[in-house]
Amino acid sequence: MLCRYPSLIAVLFLPVVAEVVFARPQWRLGVPPVHPPVDPPSHIPMKDGVLLPPYDTIYTFDQLIDHDNPRLGTFKQRYYFTHEFYRHGGPIVISTPGEGPLDGYAGFITNATLNGVVAQATKGAAVMIEHRFFGESNPYSDLSEESYRVHTLEQAIEDLVYFAQTAVLPMPGGNSVGASKAPWFLFGGSYSGALGYFEPIREHMPKNCSADVERVIRYMDRTLAFGSQLQKEAFKARFGMSGLTHLDDVAATLVAPFNPWQDLSPKTGSNNTFVEFCDALEVRNGIAAPADGWGLSHSLAAFGNWMKGFLAQTPVSARISKSSISPSETQAGLGSGFAAIILRQCSNYFPKTFPSATSARPKTEEVNAKYGGWSTNAPRIFFANGKRDPWREATVSSDFINRSSTRQNPIAVSDGFHCNDLDMANAIDPTIAKVQEFAVRYFVQWMDEYRWSISPLPPTFYHEKIPADIIDAPPSPLSNFLSQL
Ligand SMILES: *[C@@H]1O[C@H](CO)[C@@H](O)[C@H](O)[C@H]1NC(C)=O
Ligand SMILES: *[C@@H]1O[C@H](CO)[C@@H](O)[C@H](O)[C@H]1NC(C)=O
Ligand SMILES: *[C@@H]1O[C@H](CO)[C@@H](O)[C@H](O)[C@H]1NC(C)=O
Ligand SMILES: *[C@@H]1O[C@H](CO)[C@@H](O)[C@H](O)[C@H]1NC(C)=O
Repeated sequence: MLCRYPSLIAVLFLPVVAEVVFARPQWRLGVPPVHPPVDPPSHIPMKDGVLLPPYDTIYTFDQLIDHDNPRLGTFKQRYYFTHEFYRHGGPIVISTPGEGPLDGYAGFITNATLNGVVAQATKGAAVMIEHRFFGESNPYSDLSEESYRVHTLEQAIEDLVYFAQTAVLPMPGGNSVGASKAPWFLFGGSYSGALGYFEPIREHMPKNCSADVERVIRYMDRTLAFGSQLQKEAFKARFGMSGLTHLDDVAATLVAPFNPWQDLSPKTGSNNTFVEFCDALEVRNGIAAPADGWGLSHSLAAFGNWMKGFLAQTPVSARISKSSISPSETQAGLGSGFAAIILRQCSNYFPKTFPSATSARPKTEEVNAKYGGWSTNAPRIFFANGKRDPWREATVSSDFINRSSTRQNPIAVSDGFHCNDLDMANAIDPTIAKVQEFAVRYFVQWMDEYRWSISPLPPTFYHEKIPADIIDAPPSPLSNFLSQL
C-alpha cells in the first residue's frame, strides 16, 4: 500500500489492537474502540470567517464491497471530515477508529488530537473513517458467514487505499486531492498481533501487587492443571465462577482487573479499576503491604472477594456463556496460550467455516511475513510508543528486539500507556508532550521534503532518536513551535 504512489505517504503508527475493555462504570461491551474516543471542541469550525459544517457531521463514501471483485458493487462507508486548516497543496490526514464504531471519534479531525495538530501544522485536511463491519459501515445487511468473507485485513487496507485514490472530499477542490496528486498521512491503523500483553504491566505495576498476583496465578495454574475436581470447584467458587465449565474461561476472567491498565493516561490520573484492584489486594486495615506483598492466603481471599464484587456488577449479557463473546472471553489468560477462548468462539459462531473448536487458528506468521512485523521499514513511518502500554511488546519498542530509531522510521517512546500520544490533553506528561512535538516536527519535515521535490528547500530537521536528556527536559510548548511555522 505504501509503495503504490509516487507521492508522499507518511504513517504514524501506534499499537492498535482489537480488544475488549472492562471499565466501570460504563461497560464497553461488544467490540470496543481500539483507542479512547476524543470529543471535538464544542465550537463550530470556521475558516476564513465562514462557518464550516460541525465536526460531527457524517459523510459517506461509496466503498467497494470486495476489492478483488469490484463488480459486487459498493456500500456506504461513514467518515468525519474537516478542511478547517487546509490550504491548497496541504496533505490529507486520515485515520480510522479501527475495531469500533465511528461515533465519538470526531475529536480526531480536530486539534484536540495529534491528527488535527499535524493537519494544522502542515495545512492539511483531516478524515476519520469508519472501519468496514463496524458501526454502520457494513458491506452487507447481515453478519453471516458469507458476508464475513470480505472482513479481512487485506480488504480493510484496500479500503483506505481506494478512499485515498478516489474520494471526492467535501471541500472546494476536493476532487483533486487523491493520493496520486496530494500527500496523504495515515495515522494509527495497524493491527499488531499481540504477544506479551502483560510484560509492561508486570514491570510497571506496584511491586507488592505484582508479587501477590503472581502468587495467585501460580496457585491457579497448579490447581487448574493438577488439582482434584474438588479443588478446582473450590477455586472457582472462591472467585465467584462456580458456574463456569471451561477452565480457560476461569483463567481468562481473572485477567479482568488488568484490562483497565490500558485505559490509564495522564489525563485520567489514577482513577482506574486497576488501581482500585491493587489497593483492594495490598491495603489491609489501612496499611499498604511491603514490596513483597502479603502472601498467598491473603491475596487469594482479597482477589476472590474483588472478583466476586466485580462479576456481580457485570451485566448478565456480558457474562460468559457457551455461545457469547464476553469481555472475559476475548482475553488471553495470564499463563495460558493466547486467545484460546477467542478461537473457540469462531466455531461457536461460524460452524460452517470452523467446524471444530480447533479449526480456527491465528495467522500470525503469515501476517508478519506479509507486512514485515517488527522489521517493517517502509519510509516515513513514525512509531510513537508508550513504555507502559500493555501492547508494547507487539511494537518495535518490544524488549524482545533491538530496533534503532532512524530518520525514515523514527521511534519515539514516552512514559505513556496505550495510545496516549494521540490525545493532546495528555501533553501534561512531559514525555508525551515531547513525542507529540517530535511527531509534528517529523510530519512537517516530510511535507517540506515533499514540497522540496517540487521547489528545492533545504531540510531543516534531522533527529535520529530522542536522547534521554531531551525526553527528561521540560517540554517547550507545542504552541511555540506551531507559531513559528
Ligand atoms: C487549536 O487551534 C486553535 C486555533 O484554531 C488554537 O487556538 C488552539 O490553541 C489550538 N490547540 C492546540 C492544542 O494546538
Ligand atoms: C503497595 O500497594 C499500595 C496499594 O496499591 C501502593 O500504593 C504502593 O505503592 C505499593 N508499594 C510497593 C512498594 O509496591
Ligand atoms: C472516576 O472516573 C469515573 C468514570 O470515568 C467518573 O465518573 C468519576 O467522576 C471519576 N472520579 C474522580 C474522583 O475523578
Ligand atoms: C538489546 O540490547 C541490549 C543492550 O545492548 C541488550 O542488553 C539486550 O540483551 C538486547 N536484546 C535483544 C533481544 O537482543
